[in-house]
Amino acid sequence: MQKFMIHIKTEQEIEKMKEGGKILAEILKKLSDAVKPGITTSELDKLARELISSCGAEPSCLGYNGYPAALCTSVNDEIAHAIPSDRILKEGDLLKLDIGVLHKGFHTDSATTILVGGKEDKEKIKLLNVTKEALNIGISKSKAGNTLGDIGSAIQKYVEDNGFNVVRNLVGHGIGRKFHEPPQVSNYGKAGEGEELKAGWVIAIEPMVVTGDWRIKDGKDGFGFITKDGGLSAHFEHTVAIIDNGPVVLTK
Ligand code: MF3
Ligand code: CO
Repeated sequence: MQKFMIHIKTEQEIEKMKEGGKILAEILKKLSDAVKPGITTSELDKLARELISSCGAEPSCLGYNGYPAALCTSVNDEIAHAIPSDRILKEGDLLKLDIGVLHKGFHTDSATTILVGGKEDKEKIKLLNVTKEALNIGISKSKAGNTLGDIGSAIQKYVEDNGFNVVRNLVGHGIGRKFHEPPQVSNYGKAGEGEELKAGWVIAIEPMVVTGDWRIKDGKDGFGFITKDGGLSAHFEHTVAIIDNGPVVLTK
């Protein structure tokens, strides 16, 4: 018996997810443009809700496992899933925006990291660039015939070669009619190991990279995760379809 069922999406289903992904990319771009010192994370969530509803889509996160917002706004040592609040963003904060939308019955999921105020900070900019490139490397390995371990090991190697670490306890995932579907997409592993990727899979790849140790702990808001050692964290995510010709990034 199979341990889990991985849905193979049809071309038409992937087309719907591409529409949703394009909507999501535009929303995430507008949210990123709104980030500036002085704005609160709940103001960003309010904007996210307005943008999603004006596109005729629905927020994937709101109500998901009881999550109370449309957007995740994790700052500095917060890795993911932090709830928007009256926290005022300041110059130099490393802000992760993570968001999903439901469009025509299918979810898409994407995340980005922003250095608030854009002030030069070599370590933070390096962390941001390494994480973004780690995602690109993971996407490039997302080909039918490769394995999940090929994605994870390539991401891990690139990150560790650059002096950072990947978070182990939070993973990417299959996505479609459900926000989280099998398989789990780890950001570490061994090449050649794990399930073989098939044409028709749609997965969210989302490396979370930290400056220090990869161990995490729960945040105080009941949903967020933070680094145990107080190190900084960055996160980029795309929803990617695996088709015969290779990976297609849906959230762009
Ligand atoms: N990209 C995140 C994830 O896959 C989005 C989380 S939304 C939340 O876990 F509602 F679960 F917080
Ligand atoms: Co995700």
